[in-house]
Amino acid sequence: MPGVEVAASILTADFGNLYRAVRKLESAGVDRLHLDVMDGQFVDNITFGPDVVRAFRRLTELPIDVHLMIARPAHYAGRFVDAGGDTITFHVEVDEPAEQKRATLERIAAAGRQAGLAVSPDTPVEAVAPFLEQLQIVMIMTVHPGWGGQRFLADQAPKIAAARRLLGRRAGTYVHVDGGVNAETAAIVGAHGVDVCVVGSALFGRRRDTAAEVEQVRRVAAAAAPGRR
Ligand code: DX5
Ligand code: ZN
Repeated sequence: MPGVEVAASILTADFGNLYRAVRKLESAGVDRLHLDVMDGQFVDNITFGPDVVRAFRRLTELPIDVHLMIARPAHYAGRFVDAGGDTITFHVEVDEPAEQKRATLERIAAAGRQAGLAVSPDTPVEAVAPFLEQLQIVMIMTVHPGWGGQRFLADQAPKIAAARRLLGRRAGTYVHVDGGVNAETAAIVGAHGVDVCVVGSALFGRRRDTAAEVEQVRRVAAAAAPGRR
């Protein structure tokens, strides 16, 4: 039976030594690497672009989830596919026509990658309904996008189960949850049927036992799952 996966967000890692951060995450047993791309327009923060994703691709064998917090995913998604992202998720809220969002999702899938839509806290999960045929991932944001280390927004949790209902039991579909997930909040997201927990700041910190945190998040979320694992 598939368990819950942990995708490590490096947003709060030491950007001065990302090589060491990735090796630490690999030895801690994370399942995936979650890369937060921010353009300073969709969110009031700027991180990195396709060249850094390409550098991570050279650095690790881990599956790479690219989280695009950018205003123009239609324009840039192809560059993140070329950079080696295994999954590319952009925000349903972007100011682009529905037809263009659909085309972007189809373009990602046509390249053999998983295509996803992220849903921010102020957006109802039903906003992804028009795109279900083109989706493999729905990502529920449990913080307002833009920064790591924020408090988990528990009122977003019911959207996880709602996303699973929308996706149905279609094989190859996954609900990711992103923001404030740790060994405690993993019980909440697990109870609502999460498939992939994005974990950032809970994995980094001088005295953190990263491997223990990864194992706890996975175990707590799976144990809380509604009779699924
Ligand atoms: C926030 C990012 C998240 C964040 C998760 O905009 O999309 O991936 O880095 O980090 P934590 O787990 O610290 O909330
Ligand atoms: Zn993210």
